[in-house]
Amino acid sequence: LEKKSRPPVLWLHFQECTCCSESFIRASHPVVADILLDAISLDYTETLQAAAGHQAEKCRDDTMKKYAGKYILLVEGSVPTGADGAYCCVGGRSAQDILKEAAAGAAAVIAWGNCASYGCVQAAKPNPTDATPIHKLIGKPVINVPGCPPIADVMAAVIVHLLLFGRGPELDAQGRPREFYGRRVHDTCYRRPYYDAGMFVDAWDDEGARKGYCLFHMGCRGPVTYNACAVTKWNQSTSYPIQSGHGCIGCSENGFWDASPFYRH
Ligand code: SF4
Ligand code: F3S
Repeated sequence: LEKKSRPPVLWLHFQECTCCSESFIRASHPVVADILLDAISLDYTETLQAAAGHQAEKCRDDTMKKYAGKYILLVEGSVPTGADGAYCCVGGRSAQDILKEAAAGAAAVIAWGNCASYGCVQAAKPNPTDATPIHKLIGKPVINVPGCPPIADVMAAVIVHLLLFGRGPELDAQGRPREFYGRRVHDTCYRRPYYDAGMFVDAWDDEGARKGYCLFHMGCRGPVTYNACAVTKWNQSTSYPIQSGHGCIGCSENGFWDASPFYRH
């Protein structure tokens, strides 16, 4: 990776909560500082850059002109198409406008998180802003890296794959990297033996909860969720929701926000 030149990267933010950025800066394989300082040239990102206002906009525009067809575009957030895009504007321009221009010259486009991949909670019924995933707005392939947020090391790995091989990883039918979204949380969960044995938590403070039994009766969506949480875990491989005693809410799946209830009890 060190021998490769540092390709320019633009990171756009639209309708989102910035949890994808928060996740990414905790990447440990590789460490995020190594990616930002040695592997890529992050020319524009509203949350991490020092520049602001016109200087920042100029930076983005200069990169789009100078490296047309060569830069990597990362997008965090869904794009509201309602009210002519007025719900989300940056520098006086609509998110939709900015996205289309930036995507046109990008060598690769990555959708970070469930917002950019599927719409997420902003798209919850009745979707008042017409929050739209980016693959529906640009005429080129998008690598979807869903999750709310996506796992830091998965985000880092997708970028590193692009840099090392000059192409994106193999994707599934929903545009997600198979390597990380090819297995159900349920099939990699350490509580799975309890599921198979019919040993369940039936109340948050019952004996089963104290013993770490399966959370399926409490609403766990691990059986219908594809993500690598149980394998890579979070926060430098410390834990993941189920290990913390909470069922999976399916945060990497399309439509999870409307598939209520999250809890069965
Ligand atoms: Fe499956 Fe959830 Fe039970 Fe784990 S806790 S075995 S993911 S139902
Ligand atoms: Fe999300 Fe379920 Fe993982 S809620 S963080 S996909 S365990």
